[in-house]
Amino acid sequence: MNTAQEQLWWRSAVIYQVYPRSFEDSNNDGVGDLNGIRKRLNHLVELGVDALWISPIYPSPMADFGYDISDYTDIHPIFGTLAEMEALIDEAHALQLRIILDLVPNHTSDQHPWFLESRSSRSNPKRDWYIWEDPRPDGGPPNNWLSVFGGGAWEWEEHTGQYYYHAFLKEQPDLNWRNPEVRAAMYDVMRFWLEKGVDGFRVDVMWHMIKDTRLRDNPVNPGYAPGQPTYNQLLPVYSTDQPEVHDIVAEMRDIMETFGNGKLLIGEVYLPLQDLVLYYGKNNEGAHLPFNFQLITLPWEARTIAACVDEYEGLLPADAWPNWVLGNHDNHRVASRTGIQQARVAAMLLFTLRGTPTVYYGDEIGMRSVAIPPEEVKDPQGLNMPGLHLSRDPARTPMQWDASPYAGFSGVRPWLPVERSWQRCNVAMQQDDPYSMLSLYKALIKLRKAEPALHAGQYDPVYADRGIMAFTRKMPGRHYFLIVLNMTHAPAWFVPAHFTFKGKVVCATIPEWTGVEVHNSIGMDGDLGLIIQLEQ
Ligand code: GLC
Repeated sequence: MNTAQEQLWWRSAVIYQVYPRSFEDSNNDGVGDLNGIRKRLNHLVELGVDALWISPIYPSPMADFGYDISDYTDIHPIFGTLAEMEALIDEAHALQLRIILDLVPNHTSDQHPWFLESRSSRSNPKRDWYIWEDPRPDGGPPNNWLSVFGGGAWEWEEHTGQYYYHAFLKEQPDLNWRNPEVRAAMYDVMRFWLEKGVDGFRVDVMWHMIKDTRLRDNPVNPGYAPGQPTYNQLLPVYSTDQPEVHDIVAEMRDIMETFGNGKLLIGEVYLPLQDLVLYYGKNNEGAHLPFNFQLITLPWEARTIAACVDEYEGLLPADAWPNWVLGNHDNHRVASRTGIQQARVAAMLLFTLRGTPTVYYGDEIGMRSVAIPPEEVKDPQGLNMPGLHLSRDPARTPMQWDASPYAGFSGVRPWLPVERSWQRCNVAMQQDDPYSMLSLYKALIKLRKAEPALHAGQYDPVYADRGIMAFTRKMPGRHYFLIVLNMTHAPAWFVPAHFTFKGKVVCATIPEWTGVEVHNSIGMDGDLGLIIQLEQ
């Protein structure tokens, strides 16, 4: 990798998230695996994406479906072997696809040998690798911190008479990132995979990695309303987003740079924009892409989304590269958040905004979140807080490949049910249908790739009113585009006050609009999104 262009490959790339349990089951045990991913790489090539981020595939007791890791440098047998991972990396590279692994440095499994040692005695050399604290004089936990997955965040250990901290499940004890040995061990993990040729990491819960030295109580959240996750009762002021986290991120970045400049560091960070952008680091020496989840968390409303794009563009440090995410394994699918027609508009927005887009598997065929009966819920977040409907299973159901039983995902009953409508919502069927979601995704990705203005051009807002969001993308000497999105189901007129235009539709969520010539105002059908190439 030599040229600056190649080093910055991720700026013009489209990233695709694979949730490995649900992508393709090659050995008929009901759970997806690495050979399954390998078998389906051609789908990703045809879709036009450049990189796959694979959620954790390491040995794990699966208390949190792989986000509880008991060995960072091997593969869980349910997913395959290390040799199969190497084969996947090689085959992906041969197809010009890059591989991004999930790195989970905040916590291990309680079955990881490090934790088994750490919990064995107060004098064990690994005792300080985790966060152990004495009880308060009344025997209670050291502070009021709560677990994201419900209940308190401290687990009592009778045997050594101390509590340990877990931001997530008690089976996921938090590592102590103030201990240099922990840092060194995790950096070795990064090197292990970088040496195997992986192209980057998505760092799990990056903003959680280091906590207040004094472990002060978190303040009460005055905005808490019953029905919200119990974790929201407090503001996680002292348990997350500590200033020292940025030093760790910069150290991770340094490790990656020793493997050449083309390795990509992505951070999972759920924070308001002004705090999120700090994760780019001083002089952009932090994460290349701190994930921007605004399109998932904000209400689907034109003015709100347009204001957020402006705010984000305004807050980005000089030379920092933006990014946008439409879905992931922790949130309801876009088709269920916005409705299937608006999911087409959302796709057009994702691929026309400035910044690297990330697509969640299945969203390219419009898969919806699936209702899972309470007795079949698998996700610990759902099980721990029943009644709050927080299970993430609905967005993790098997990929729908074709109309055969179990949607071509597996020959046996999969670990989560397949969406009932799989026989008419699947890759095989949508492939040749010019009106399908898949055809729209392919067209959008192709256009974005072909047109420098769309992946790298300047973003200028035009209008956001009466349900319509509009903006232009331009780059000197290249085609100039106007994007107009009706983010409602009802017709609306696009008549911008201070912007005149003349051009031709080159892509539309309602394909019949393609080729239509437009001039200064447009009667926008409900759910219509247009990419218009302007006369200059
Ligand atoms: C991240 C993951 C989520 C996991 C949690 C704990 O938020 O995306 O799936 O449960 O971290 O590791």
